[in-house]
Amino acid sequence: MSGAQADAGRHTDDPWWKAAVLYQVYPRSFADGDGDGVGDLPGLIGHLDHLEWLGVDGLWLSPITPSPNEDWGYDVSDFCAVHPDFGTLDDLDLLVAEAARRGIRILLDLVPNHTSDQHPWFREAASSRVAKRRDWYVWADAKPDGSPPNNWVSSFGGPGWTLHPETGQYFFHNHLEQQPDLNWWNDDVRDTFDGILRFWLDRGVAGFRIDCCNVIIKDAELLDNPPATEEDDFEAQMFGQRPVYNANRPEVHEVLRRWRALTETYPGGRVLIGETPVPVDDLVSYYGSGDELHLAFNFTFLSAPFDAPALRAVVEVTEAALPPGAWPVWTGSNHDMFRFPTRWAGGDPQRARVALLMLLCLRGTPVLYQGDEIGMGDVTLTQEDLRDPLGVRYWPHYAGRDAARTPMQWRPGPGGGFTAAGVRPWLPLGDVEATNVERQRSDRYSMVHLARDLIALRRQSADLRLGRYQTLDAPDGVWAWSRGERAVVVLNLTEGAVRLPGVEGAVRLSTDRGRDGESISGGLRIGAWEGLVAERSP
Ligand code: GLC
Repeated sequence: MSGAQADAGRHTDDPWWKAAVLYQVYPRSFADGDGDGVGDLPGLIGHLDHLEWLGVDGLWLSPITPSPNEDWGYDVSDFCAVHPDFGTLDDLDLLVAEAARRGIRILLDLVPNHTSDQHPWFREAASSRVAKRRDWYVWADAKPDGSPPNNWVSSFGGPGWTLHPETGQYFFHNHLEQQPDLNWWNDDVRDTFDGILRFWLDRGVAGFRIDCCNVIIKDAELLDNPPATEEDDFEAQMFGQRPVYNANRPEVHEVLRRWRALTETYPGGRVLIGETPVPVDDLVSYYGSGDELHLAFNFTFLSAPFDAPALRAVVEVTEAALPPGAWPVWTGSNHDMFRFPTRWAGGDPQRARVALLMLLCLRGTPVLYQGDEIGMGDVTLTQEDLRDPLGVRYWPHYAGRDAARTPMQWRPGPGGGFTAAGVRPWLPLGDVEATNVERQRSDRYSMVHLARDLIALRRQSADLRLGRYQTLDAPDGVWAWSRGERAVVVLNLTEGAVRLPGVEGAVRLSTDRGRDGESISGGLRIGAWEGLVAERSP
């Protein structure tokens, strides 16, 4: 890699997002600029310097559009505006410009599957059976006995159909009843969304994370889902049915091709990243033949346990399944999942460092979630604290997603640097004394420096950015792989030190920072719960 230091710039032939590190911002919890306890765009603009210092190339913002917040922004009531909690369109324009000045692109969340029931489209559609936009949503008559049109359930639990008494039909919702699903068979819906994509792309947005990408088309005949079997995944078994007809329909690919074609009319490599919670074999189809998504989130990886055989298997299957040209994407936390420092690392900082090194050294685009860089874990909340409708509904069996949505921990002290001292944030702060950006930035052995140095190392190393992945032989509990010509990555996910024969060269970066630069001869020793990147001698 030292030779490759000359190659510190970015590759010109490859699109920017392949070599990029992306970072998810949950705007409500990132930084509060106006002291109301809610994060906002001015707050985010005020913290771009941190993201530039960290070295990320692009931000994906969870929805910033107006919403009654039944599902915290994922129930959109206007697709072409900014929620007043977050600021204005001018703030968004300023964010795009200020980020660009720092070499950072902005991606937005696109929520095409459903709207808020407060969206003017739904209000109009619900006004009568002959309303102009009636067919923009999925309406159907009751069965003769008055029961719902078919057996589809909501992925949030309960029936997927809600009766609309005023017009005597049921409407379908894959999530909350306040989130009616759009009817993607309707051409006006498709045309309108083309306009929405353009609205943001014209403002310089670099692309979209597409929410619920795999469920937007429903079976035209509204056939019943088949019952789940023992072979099915946990969710299907929990719901008692396989989501065959209300999700994963083949026609979704037409819509993705349409969006891909549209984004390609824009310069600068705009990117589409799908929320695609499907098995790896099906994930492949979402890339199309290079004409659908650029990146499809890998939920099999996200849900795997933190052990070497399990993670290695997902990566190997993904590597084998993706056709040439399709680029993987790796993530450990997001606003729907528990955070990896808790989920994978069980609160152990050493393990969290290994997980971070893994995410940043696989072949593919890593997407960090805000706080991953400081090893922020889930925050324990009381029932009174809960804001996520799922937690409110299912407590105490399931506390929902709020534990991963608490405010970013910037500084010690009241408000944690997220909001002004004395202001009650919309969700409680975690332990800002123990874990915060400010303190970690002043400690070069901290997690945030590890994140920054790993990102910088990727930038310098063509092997780490773009080199091919190959599993290497390793003792039980150890996962080792090579990248490109000379990079070797080793994760020891066990309690004891091990030795890996056949690696000569130097340690470039280890989670045990004292080893950075150490030369390796006679095999590579790797400590318990250590992760490292080595460079083989030429
Ligand atoms: C996606 C979002 C999630 C939301 C759901 C319904 O899964 O990530 O937060 O609740 O869609 O919109």
